[in-house]
Amino acid sequence: MRRGGVVLMVMVSVTLGTLCGFLSINTMQGARLPRGPNDAVTNPPGASSGQDGTCSKSSSLKRSYTRSEVLSGGEGEACPLPKRILIWTSFWGEQSFTWERIFFRQVSRRCPESRCELVYDHRLLDSAAAVLFHPGDMKPSYSLPATRPPGQPWIFLSFESPSTMINKVNLARLNGVFNWTMTYRRDSDVVVPYGLVLTRTAPLHLQKDYWSGKSNKLLAAWTVSHCNTESRREWFVKELVKHMALDVFGKCGTRKCGKSLFLMTIGTFNQTECSNEIEKYMFYLAFENSICLDYITEKFYQALTLEVVPVVLGGGPYEDIAPPHSYVDALAFDSPKHLAKYLKEVANDRDAYNRFFVWKQHYTVELGHPFSPLVCDLCAKLHDPVSFSPPNANRNPMEQVGVLGAVRGRDGNGSYPDIQSWFVRGSVCRRWWQSAEGRRKHIHK
Ligand SMILES: *[C@@H]1O[C@H](CO)[C@@H](O)[C@H](O)[C@H]1NC(C)=O
Ligand SMILES: *[C@@H]1O[C@H](CO)[C@@H](O)[C@H](O)[C@H]1NC(C)=O
Ligand SMILES: *[C@@H]1O[C@H](CO)[C@@H](O)[C@H](O)[C@H]1NC(C)=O
Repeated sequence: MRRGGVVLMVMVSVTLGTLCGFLSINTMQGARLPRGPNDAVTNPPGASSGQDGTCSKSSSLKRSYTRSEVLSGGEGEACPLPKRILIWTSFWGEQSFTWERIFFRQVSRRCPESRCELVYDHRLLDSAAAVLFHPGDMKPSYSLPATRPPGQPWIFLSFESPSTMINKVNLARLNGVFNWTMTYRRDSDVVVPYGLVLTRTAPLHLQKDYWSGKSNKLLAAWTVSHCNTESRREWFVKELVKHMALDVFGKCGTRKCGKSLFLMTIGTFNQTECSNEIEKYMFYLAFENSICLDYITEKFYQALTLEVVPVVLGGGPYEDIAPPHSYVDALAFDSPKHLAKYLKEVANDRDAYNRFFVWKQHYTVELGHPFSPLVCDLCAKLHDPVSFSPPNANRNPMEQVGVLGAVRGRDGNGSYPDIQSWFVRGSVCRRWWQSAEGRRKHIHK
């Protein structure tokens, strides 16, 4: 595993000594920063050190502050204090480096509300405005903070679907522990999706023929590195390839291109290599490793940024979040065979194919995680008194409609009394076939 953590670790340690306790952009300029496809590092206006005009030199030297100062954010003072976000766990075994990447927007002060800082020293518990936990790193022996300062939300953060965690973490042990959730689920307290679809302020007038640039032989591509998944997407694909051509890139296939866009590869990832390859194809399979409520990953958003039609298999609200007529939903077909038939028809029809790109005139797509602007919402929420005022029950949508009586959101005590039910049962994960019988039915059609 390649790491470039040293530089960023140094940056963390200079945070406190920097003007107003913020990481100044000048400090960062010399450093080698993580770079993402859409994220050239540039100076935000007015972010250069010493030019904020709000903080005096002397207050910038302040190295410690009391808990009440932190909780009030030092409002009204010449130099507002950042809210401390104490990171309690590692992130899949990685320490601060990965957390800094997740909160890249925050750390580089490119959030509308940037007065927050990440700290890692457990001794700073009392002065923290919030504590973040990555449950995937909380093994049974893991210790929680010994005390619970009042008004300090403990936050459950996960970017993965519950199926990756079910057998690794005893969530029941964590009942009543978390006050807020921070996940891709839309009923989380802080919602961090893997991407965003934005409406263009002025529509483009594209007259492009996407169809004529493609070869009919290159029907579909799939990039995949997990060969056995909860969703059983690989079983679906096994059926699919009986009826159509598919090139498989990555660990589970025979073709290679670039590296996958994964947290660990940020900074070394070169999207161009793979994108050029994928864009030669008509369709791209954006099949999720789990079919769970709201779980749509960067595979899908990334495909939307390219000149290829995504074929999705997942449990997310595609029709709500994706541009109109921008993708093909594999699960809407009776069987893989029916899907293959449809894809081949579209591939042979210039107009039908080009209709899948009309949306590009009206929408743009921003890749979220791990450069999500939505991590900003955490800091904003910590500065908003409304986030702390009762009643603050967060009821799961399933709970509300009574579909799953036992799914419990946050209760009147301000915490999730049954986080397992919220995260696992509330995600209603399933396989693409519901039962052995269902599978036979799909396959023999
Ligand atoms: C968090 O939950 C605990 C346990 O239910 C509760 O005592 C505490 O007041 C809650 N804190 C916040 C900030 O909601
Ligand atoms: C990424 O790959 C493309 C194609 O191989 C190459 O032209 C480009 O220079 C690479 N970019 C970086 C930043 O390495
Ligand atoms: C608060 O927690 C206690 C202990 O778990 C529970 O009995 C009670 O019902 C909870 N109160 C509310 C309002 O949810």
